[in-house]
Amino acid sequence: MKKVLILALAVIMVVSLGACGQKPADTGANTSTTTSTDTNTGEGGTGKIGISMPTQSLQRWNQDGANMKSAFEAAGYEVDLQFGGDNDIATQVSQIENMISGGCSILVIAAIDGESLTTVLAGAKEKNIPVIAYDRLIMNSDAVTYYATFDNTLVGQRQGEYIEEALGLKSGAGPFNIELITGDPGDNNVNFFFGGAMSVLKPYIDSGKLVVPSGQTEQLAVATEGWNTEKAQARFENIISSVGYGPNGKKLDAVMASNDSTAQGVTNALVNAGYTKDNFPALTGQDCDTASMKNMLAGLQGMSVFKDTRTLANQVVSMADAIVKGGEPEVNDTTTYDNGTGVIPAFLCEPVVCTLDNYKELLIDSGYYTEADLQ
Ligand code: BGC
Repeated sequence: MKKVLILALAVIMVVSLGACGQKPADTGANTSTTTSTDTNTGEGGTGKIGISMPTQSLQRWNQDGANMKSAFEAAGYEVDLQFGGDNDIATQVSQIENMISGGCSILVIAAIDGESLTTVLAGAKEKNIPVIAYDRLIMNSDAVTYYATFDNTLVGQRQGEYIEEALGLKSGAGPFNIELITGDPGDNNVNFFFGGAMSVLKPYIDSGKLVVPSGQTEQLAVATEGWNTEKAQARFENIISSVGYGPNGKKLDAVMASNDSTAQGVTNALVNAGYTKDNFPALTGQDCDTASMKNMLAGLQGMSVFKDTRTLANQVVSMADAIVKGGEPEVNDTTTYDNGTGVIPAFLCEPVVCTLDNYKELLIDSGYYTEADLQ
């Protein structure tokens, strides 16, 4: 009797172990004829992942693309990684079309323009290819299955709070002069970055403790096409001359810039106008780009928001892996991100404020950069 029991237990164990080591279940998601280079026979993933990034001209998307590529490959997947020229919407659309027809079983997309992918993604939906919106939400498409990003509102709030603290606004100091700059109007994140920052700054603008001498306070008026550094610089050069800012002119106390590529344009314009580290306004940013970190070390940018692209990349790999294997990806936000077709379940990673006080620990000790990268 005892022997029979042991045998029965052994059979159960073998069967359940077999189930754990099973090849990914068919999710019905991939109706195409994907050829995998996967040689794993155990828990590894199978299939080809299409990764569409917006541009190679900004540092972060190169990092995001490279991090995801290597993490997906390490998990056993084949990867088709494409960059949409220099923020060229038509290029991104045709690359996604090729991914759909080329047998990708999941698409991971950071949209150039969140509103421009509805038609192409209808093709993904038709083939049951799941789509993960990466960093930026894709609007008006019911093909979007999940969204992985950082807490974008928190990014903006942290920028607003940095200025609030740098100027001592909470203790009633002021009035101070401030200017604002944000990113591309087609990037849905801008609503959250700008909205988050203004949730902190607007009450001070309303009470007169912050004054915006250019008069440009609306999101669209302070937007920057393509998040482009030269365009940001040109707009600030105009503001400097029209308002009369300068080390010997009107005092500029703070600039809320939504990210580093725009902050760099602001810094260039201010330096050209004669500003130095000794009279530099409190300037925010986001991404911890090397160029901005060098500015920070030189006293020409006060803060950046660190969004560890390794964390986001790994999160997306595990989400995609769960989908391929017929499981449920982990999400931590099911209320915030409605793309016009309904709320998209999201995983939000945490952004962290980076200043001279903690950059070594955040960026160097964690292996994100070497000291030499920032010299
Ligand atoms: C990203 C930022 C980035 C910006 C410009 C945004 O969607 O969230 O990290 O700085 O695009 O590339």
